[in-house]
Amino acid sequence: MINRKKYNWHKVFDSEAGIKLGENGIGTLQLNDKTICITKFDGEWYAFTNSCPHAGAPLSEGCLDAKGNIICPFHNYKFNIKNGRMANADGYILKTYPAEVRPDGVFIGIKKEGLLSWL
Ligand code: FES
Repeated sequence: MINRKKYNWHKVFDSEAGIKLGENGIGTLQLNDKTICITKFDGEWYAFTNSCPHAGAPLSEGCLDAKGNIICPFHNYKFNIKNGRMANADGYILKTYPAEVRPDGVFIGIKKEGLLSWL
């Protein structure tokens, strides 16, 4: 469970119905000039940066496996979309963001002290 007070919450869609996913089940949105991927897995929404931590490939063009890993389209590294960890190795961490569906929309949380880490 995350500490919700540590995040600034940004409304990114009016409702779940407004989220457009590609054929690979991954959608994108713009927030603070960054591209963020959003996807649904096991009934929950997850968000993560579009830029692969290995060499910057667009993860929105990757695919999800049955375990909830995003597979990078460039070198096939796998990252867990829940915690950002690599599936079968260490070394790179995928930046992830909490996503919440509320009665008034879909929100993405950005850590308050982490704003500069976006740069
Ligand atoms: S750029 Fe994603 S695994 Fe290399």
